[in-house]
Amino acid sequence: MLASSIIAKKRDHEKLSREEIEFILNGFVDGTVPDYQMSALAMAILCRGMDSEEIANLTYCMWKSGISLNRSTDRPRVDKHSTGGLGDKTSLILAPLLACFDLDVPMLSGRGLGITGGTLDKLEAIEGFRCDLNQSEIDRQLRSIGCVITGTTPDITPADRKLYALRDVTGTVPSVALITASILSKKLAESLDALVLDVKFGTGAFMQTYDAAQALSDSLVRTGQQMRQKTFSIMSDMNQPLGRMVGNGCEVNESLDVLRGSGPVPVRELTLQLSAPLMVATGRAETEPQAMVMLSKKLDSGEPLDRFQKMVEYQSGKFVDAIPLATASVLKCPRTGTIENLHGQLIGQAVIELGGGRSKLGDPIDHSVGMEFLVRLGDKVNEGQPWVRIFCNAGRGLAEATALLNRGLTIQGD
Ligand code: URA
Repeated sequence: MLASSIIAKKRDHEKLSREEIEFILNGFVDGTVPDYQMSALAMAILCRGMDSEEIANLTYCMWKSGISLNRSTDRPRVDKHSTGGLGDKTSLILAPLLACFDLDVPMLSGRGLGITGGTLDKLEAIEGFRCDLNQSEIDRQLRSIGCVITGTTPDITPADRKLYALRDVTGTVPSVALITASILSKKLAESLDALVLDVKFGTGAFMQTYDAAQALSDSLVRTGQQMRQKTFSIMSDMNQPLGRMVGNGCEVNESLDVLRGSGPVPVRELTLQLSAPLMVATGRAETEPQAMVMLSKKLDSGEPLDRFQKMVEYQSGKFVDAIPLATASVLKCPRTGTIENLHGQLIGQAVIELGGGRSKLGDPIDHSVGMEFLVRLGDKVNEGQPWVRIFCNAGRGLAEATALLNRGLTIQGD
């Protein structure tokens, strides 16, 4: 087989076989297919698309390019994946919450790149927290406390690890086929009984329109089912940050509030909605409404907070009641009216300007910076009313972040 013929086939709208996909992915992992040929194929896939059989084959071959986690207990095993958004801290709450129902949650997460935050970056706001656990550490932690949030190990889906880095610099990220295979291959390697996907749409999401997010959601669920993985999907609105806090330390603090039974309603509600199908799929509840009641009571009991604390301590972190944040200042509404837009892309860029996100892989992160939104879409506001609190270190990026935030705010006059 020749890599160049496989690329030309996709370029000419033809369908690739499982053998061809396997050949090119294996060659890419072992170095016999160079980056330039893999990039050309990724671009052909982005432009020509793939049918559902090709996507299933791509997902399967990416999954099988590495190992899968052991089943270390006989408890049902579940997880959630979000396509990424602003202020989305639900993973930090969902993992310990579900572990309190005798479910195992082996959450292999990623870092933020671009405007959306990454779960590992958030957890690293906790002093000492380790995100590089190996298989046996993951097993041991699951056996003891039922939840772990860590990075993928190097031997899990190496084809995705290499391809994602290439896609990021070759304009080939936004392909439904490539995103489906990338997300699902990693989740299949967790050896789950059920998986829920949070597919976000809006100005703060990867998929800006509802229709694009729906197409991704359909592809993820269909491919999950083809892989015999019980898969559920929830579409969620990302036209404003989830909750009040955006930024790594800020989001840990808001998660702790929710784990204490308080915190913003949208964060709590989305966490419960994502957890409910997993409770039903594993026989912990008969219906989703029943699951919602059980989950809500559990969250108020304080038990998930204890489980979170245990998870932090198992992963060498120093548990604290709140992460210290940088110096706060506020921006004020320039006029009276109704909040019409809090533009996600601009807010995300503002976090990066403050040092709370990366503009390229490997950039260091300042975990103490971020922002707290004091208004929501549809709120009536008065001129001079504070609308956002910015946490900034030594003035770094404050002028740029202020300009971006002010551009992102639209107030419709009365
Ligand atoms: N997240 C992933 O893990 N992969 C993608 O391709 C996009 C988002």
